[in-house]
Amino acid sequence: MTPTVDRQSIQEALRQISAALAAATLYSLEHKQVQVLVPQILESLSRMLGVQNEITFLVVKKDLLFDGKPLERTPHTERIARMLYSRRVGFIRFATGITTEEITLLLQVAIGQQDAEKFKTSAPHIDYGEVDTEDDEERVRPITRFAELTDEELGSIKDFYETIGDQENLEIKELSSIIAGFVSAFQQEANPLLALVPLRMEDEYTFTHSVNVAILNIAQGTSLGLDEQLLHDVGIAGMLHDAGKIFIDNEIIRKPGKLSDEEWQMMQQHPPRGAQYLMSQQGIPALAILTAFEHHMRHDKAGYPKVPDNWQLNLCSEMTMISDTFDALRTRRAYKEPWDFPKISGLMLELAGSQLNPYLVMNFLKVLEGLGEEIIETGFSLSADAPELSEEQLATRHVCE
Ligand SMILES: [Fe+2]
Ligand SMILES: [Fe+2]
Repeated sequence: MTPTVDRQSIQEALRQISAALAAATLYSLEHKQVQVLVPQILESLSRMLGVQNEITFLVVKKDLLFDGKPLERTPHTERIARMLYSRRVGFIRFATGITTEEITLLLQVAIGQQDAEKFKTSAPHIDYGEVDTEDDEERVRPITRFAELTDEELGSIKDFYETIGDQENLEIKELSSIIAGFVSAFQQEANPLLALVPLRMEDEYTFTHSVNVAILNIAQGTSLGLDEQLLHDVGIAGMLHDAGKIFIDNEIIRKPGKLSDEEWQMMQQHPPRGAQYLMSQQGIPALAILTAFEHHMRHDKAGYPKVPDNWQLNLCSEMTMISDTFDALRTRRAYKEPWDFPKISGLMLELAGSQLNPYLVMNFLKVLEGLGEEIIETGFSLSADAPELSEEQLATRHVCE
């Protein structure tokens, strides 16, 4: 009987590949952690190739098969399977003689920096096959950078907001596919928070703010382990939470100074108006309607609209409050300084328990922390594009009070 590679060695090699992929997505391929892992991966694979002169992994969505048998599903097998699957790789075969350059190419393909076709020309010891197109209907293009949104997609989000403005019937399909792109990026452990929209022109604010809240909601939901459908709804809810602002006089929305009592009353109408409007539309998830209604109630229910004491806030509304507050805080800080993470987390912690759900705040801060230095140190890569607002303008913005 020919000797076969034991399962433990396979899992060890996969663990190394998965660790390299996680570091490469979070930082870059040049990062020290990746550089340390590549020779280790080479060693593990070479050792296995000493036993069998070819090793083949089959990729079936979230699972890997070895020698035709499914491997035990671990976070590592799942990550590798999901990343390869999203790059259309249906199977991958390694042969004796594999090199460090070929392993680097494998990582590049998995994180989307190179096309799998490159194996054919540059990796004589790696063979691959494409995913069957049959089980491919729900394939979604992951979106990890704002710049990856096509002009058409950007246009469709803007059109969507204009449609709300004209109070016409909403077409939610395109919005859904963009949200699905963000969900899919998070599931591949890419870093879609880099897609947070740079703060642009004032009049684009509602649009950019909505996209940001959607992304932050999906980030929270992913870390809470929500399933795909729920993640999608939570994203849509983030996107539409402020839909009711369309019914509020633009001058009030954009007023730089403090609102008068009367204006404040009108501003407070945006949650019920939004919920009412979304209710009249087809295909809007119930969660989005509820969120539009509840997103200013605060965790202690001291916000608006006023509700009875025993009112139970929906989890998605509380998540949206956090995303909303974070995005509003971000826009009020001085932009030239790099993001000061301790300061912003301090501010959010101060609001925990009163305005915000304390457990969700802790979770949110953990999510941000887990994203690593790249994001925290560069201030979400936003500083460069941010407009220069005066201290006074910053202090008086009332984006989401
Ligand atoms: Fe709002
Ligand atoms: Fe908002």
